[in-house]
Amino acid sequence: MPAPQHSTLSETSTATPSIPASGTARLLSGAPVAERILADVATRVAALRARGVTPALATILVGDDDASAGYIRIKQRQAAELGFASPHEHLPATATQADLHAVIDAFNADPDVHALLIQYPTPRHLDYDTALQRVDPDKDVDGMHPLNLGRLAAGMPGPLPCTPAGIEALLAHYEIPVSGREVVILGRGATLGRPLAMLLAQKRPTANAAVTVVHTGVADWPRYTRRADILIAAAGVPGIIQPEHVKPGAVVVGGGVRYEGRRLLPDVAEECAATAGAITPRVGGVGPTTVAMLFRNAITAAERRFT
Ligand SMILES: NC(=O)c1ccc[n+]([C@@H]2O[C@H](COP(=O)([O-])OP(=O)(O)OC[C@H]3O[C@@H](n4cnc5c(N)ncnc54)[C@H](OP(=O)(O)O)[C@@H]3O)[C@@H](O)[C@H]2O)c1
Repeated sequence: MPAPQHSTLSETSTATPSIPASGTARLLSGAPVAERILADVATRVAALRARGVTPALATILVGDDDASAGYIRIKQRQAAELGFASPHEHLPATATQADLHAVIDAFNADPDVHALLIQYPTPRHLDYDTALQRVDPDKDVDGMHPLNLGRLAAGMPGPLPCTPAGIEALLAHYEIPVSGREVVILGRGATLGRPLAMLLAQKRPTANAAVTVVHTGVADWPRYTRRADILIAAAGVPGIIQPEHVKPGAVVVGGGVRYEGRRLLPDVAEECAATAGAITPRVGGVGPTTVAMLFRNAITAAERRFT
């Protein structure tokens, strides 16, 4: 299973949304969606604190990567603003898998820690997926533990993968009808495409779609994307979605991105704004909703312990 990446990529949320080059498409900015979700999280945190419980989102950072350390700082700051405690363990770059597991085990066993995040990526010599599998599934704030993906597949409650859940929330916020409509997802990755397909096919007013997933095994994938009412890019191939792949007036959501250094290269070409009816901005679309979902998973995990 490829390692989840949203703990890193979600930091796009702090950037200013850009306006599509020449398009007339409605811009689906993630910021107001995230604001609404985080306002709800803050209210729920306050309610728990009023009962004498401080919800805690623990974080683990391994190594000295500046970007990762910065991302952790942003999350800790945001956690504090929302009223979470955020205990943190910083392991050296030389830490072994056993060292990492020992820290995870300690947070798992700590009744005052309700949610746990391991900053991705970990140094190359460590196996992130194995570490993730060691996290107590009920504290899995990324919603990427195999048990939670299984819960999603089975329609059972549990923390949802943040980026897919954020995309559902984005569509719902902008009152884009999803139920009964044709959704095409380009990409079947474990982080985004696959869980998103499961989520949007669920029987729920904000989902309930006819979902098609295309990938490298579908050579003529544009045939599918061109008929999509809602097209979601989840490939991680810069510019793979061009205007000719988009049905005029369709909703286009850009989830896939690649980083070259600090430069973010999205799957969706900016020119698609001229064809789409609504589109996420190049920066500040899916990212902010991903972060918001992380905190929603954290407060839900804390609440679950006291109900
Ligand atoms: N914005 C955010 O906050 C956020 C959060 C999480 C992830 N992401 C991004 O979402 C993207 C997907 O992540 P992931 O881990 O789920 O993906 P992944 O495991 O890298 O999978 C990518 C998928 O795209 C398909 N694909 C790649 N090139 C293709 C091509 N030329 N034609 C057709 N299909 C192609 C692959 O097909 P095969 O299966 O056939 O190889 C695969 O299914 C990444 O760019 C990631 O960075 C963004």
